[in-house]
Amino acid sequence: MPPKVVFPDTADTVAKPATNGKTKHHKPKQDHRALAHRLRGQRESLPIFTARNAIIQQVRQHPTVIVVGETGSGKTTQIPQYLLESGFGTTAITQPRRVAATSIAKRVAEEVGTPLGGRVGYTIRFEDCSSDKTQLRFCTDGLLLREILSDPLLRRYEVVILDEAHERTLRTDILLGMLKDIQRERKRVAELNQQVPDAYFEEEEVSYRDHRSHGTHVTFDEPEEEPVQPEAVPSVIDNVHGDVTGIGELKIIVMSATLDAERFSAYFDSAPILYVAGRQFPVTTYYTTTPQADYLDAAHLTALQIHTETPSTSGDILVFLSGQEDIENVEKLLRDSAASFPPGVPALLPCPIFAALPQSQQSQVFDPAPEFTRKIILATNIAETSLTIPGIRHVVDSGVHKVRGFDPRVGESLLVEPISKSSARQRTGRAGREAAGFCYRLYTESDYAQLAEDSIPEIKRCQLSMVVLQLKAAGVTDVMQFDFMDRPSKKALKHALLELYALDALDDRGELTALGRWMSEFPLEPSYSKVIYASQKAGCTREAIDIVSLLSVDSLFYVPADKREESNAAQAVFRSTEGDHLTFLNLLRAYNKVNGDREWCQEHFVNRRNMKHVLDVRLQLNRLCARLELDTERSCGTDLDAVLKCFLSGFFHNCALLQPDGTYRSLNGSQAVHVHPGSSMFAKKTPAIFYDQLVFTNKLHARAVSAVDPMWIAQASPKLYGRLNTTA
Ligand code: CDP
Ligand code: MG
Repeated sequence: MPPKVVFPDTADTVAKPATNGKTKHHKPKQDHRALAHRLRGQRESLPIFTARNAIIQQVRQHPTVIVVGETGSGKTTQIPQYLLESGFGTTAITQPRRVAATSIAKRVAEEVGTPLGGRVGYTIRFEDCSSDKTQLRFCTDGLLLREILSDPLLRRYEVVILDEAHERTLRTDILLGMLKDIQRERKRVAELNQQVPDAYFEEEEVSYRDHRSHGTHVTFDEPEEEPVQPEAVPSVIDNVHGDVTGIGELKIIVMSATLDAERFSAYFDSAPILYVAGRQFPVTTYYTTTPQADYLDAAHLTALQIHTETPSTSGDILVFLSGQEDIENVEKLLRDSAASFPPGVPALLPCPIFAALPQSQQSQVFDPAPEFTRKIILATNIAETSLTIPGIRHVVDSGVHKVRGFDPRVGESLLVEPISKSSARQRTGRAGREAAGFCYRLYTESDYAQLAEDSIPEIKRCQLSMVVLQLKAAGVTDVMQFDFMDRPSKKALKHALLELYALDALDDRGELTALGRWMSEFPLEPSYSKVIYASQKAGCTREAIDIVSLLSVDSLFYVPADKREESNAAQAVFRSTEGDHLTFLNLLRAYNKVNGDREWCQEHFVNRRNMKHVLDVRLQLNRLCARLELDTERSCGTDLDAVLKCFLSGFFHNCALLQPDGTYRSLNGSQAVHVHPGSSMFAKKTPAIFYDQLVFTNKLHARAVSAVDPMWIAQASPKLYGRLNTTA
């Protein structure tokens, strides 16, 4: 018998049969209208419905409105529809995560009663499901940022909704600043537009504003002078060119699930805050009596306990874990346990949900479980506030999440860290959406007391090179003066500028180079776009794109704890002596040969789910490169050194040299760097390595590591390492 995870006083409480908390969930049908009709009742019973008119009125009256409401109150799905119904123009709704953008768009399309991609659509990195007709466009915050590059005033939108603003992702924070500026600029242009037409279009006998309000398209003769050009008012955005007629003001709605909305309001010149009442049933919370050594084991056992000790009709279980790897481990543990259930125990269905989950596998989380089966949803903090999963009555909270961090001395890192109290409360709240529920915290009460009140905004702890590149490309010349809601440290900004300079994306005056502009076209960290750029000259673009795509997922292999050796042996066929980058390339080539065959993947412990994602990314990158007139078929065949050199031209800051004592030290910070045990370079010693990223578990681990000639490093970045004596 596996040891039990002990929570005080749970036995009798948990065993009580509870009422069935499941709501009916509909599958999309062809008959869109009928479905929408059926969903209307649900829509109107949401807490936000009573606030409908007040919201619309506030949005009409104020340029910016802040909406605060409990998760599940209807902010994301309803407010965009209210705008649509009230005659507002095209609206963008940003989400920090892809899965949220796609699944919510799907739901809203059902409620509106149109096929997805019609009036309601979504656009996320590497995937566009929208059309000219799309009036409600759900997208990721990163995507809207990219849109500013091609449409600096976001003229195609009348309203932008920044959803999940409380999460304070890096991109949401940058968007806040950009949108504030765009709003100011559009107001100015709109006012100019209102002054100009009378004098200008008198002879045409049509009032310019009439045309605008009817949305018809009228072509006017070219004016001899240029009356409508905005005058040079100081603005951070400095690249608004071309025709500015027909631009109206931009409405901004900031939505948050936590109460600290005053800061958003202050940032937007005292914008009104609307509080939407929530609906929350009581949740009984349990802590463990002792700290848990292994939260994955604890999560697995707790979920099993709940499943076996409460009737399966007492609601589904939602388990919060730190990331895809955790989720897949627990998924496997649960499947193994379920395989040996004695007769009479209902079946359980583990349903993973995380940001990189392919579209095709997302819907099972929302679909009802088959009869006599209980769903156990394994989620990252994506299920904290952005997704509403019906039927949950039990929450298991591991107390951890994955946090991107950055330290200029060591580079980017991805750390598993304790959550904040605010997150813990949100997680608990998920159990009480439909009826009274239960939350099992896999940590002690005194550990809870030690948690930070809130998480630190990402912008304060992240690598900024990608957003600085985007700011520069959007015309923000002085990023130090940008109106950040929370200002990142000078040091971090300078580091980003320096890195972009080293990558040749900025020149010595800090201005964007032609290469920098080119790199900003890619929805990738600048290091990767630099690799792709270098690959053209080196004649290995095909391989570069392949490897960049392969690096876009957490893990390409499954390494079950009990089959480590077996899986290692099976992977050996792909292994390249030069390290992981080329090993991954071998894997992709072999995978393509067998067409991603399911059994082949099982035999070789290949993560098929992630390989599919890799192929998606590769397809989109190929398209983008073709659009930029790159020859994507340029291949170096067997001369694979060329590929590694290309990678160095983007990753020279992620290098480490072998020391006499047999350890590696990073070149730019002299930090001890350990090769990850999963790497093909784990047991090898080679004079120099470069790596894709550093992950801190119990020590600093380099992931995706390859061996390189130390001389190549100096060649890759003469600006940084020009005088470095790497031959010593
Ligand atoms: O954004 P907020 O957390 O305020 O709520 P929402 O995402 O708009 O969800 C409102 C309600 O819609 C939820 O309480 C669910 O009842 C329902 N919903 C659903 O049933 N299925 C979905 N895929 C999304 C929402
Ligand atoms: Mg929401």
